Amino acid sequence: MGQPRLAAKEPAVRSLDPGTYYWCTCGRSRDQPFCDGSHQGTDFQPLEFTLTEKEEVALCQCKRTKTPPYCDGTHQTL
Ligand code: FES
Repeated sequence: MGQPRLAAKEPAVRSLDPGTYYWCTCGRSRDQPFCDGSHQGTDFQPLEFTLTEKEEVALCQCKRTKTPPYCDGTHQTL
């Protein structure tokens, strides 16, 4: 599997309602940080995650975090 595309060198901070979301892992989505189906034809699959309450989250867009889908600061080393 190749490296994911670097969508941005900063997290997307969003206030999200409870629900299920699909975080883009390939970096190709035009709807960052979420999947828009652009991974088709690659080896990447979106990562499903669920929030049980409204939450402010920092979602990784460099796609190199060790704690997906959340930013862990790895973007600062790129
Ligand atoms: S945006 Fe990827 S670790 Fe912060």
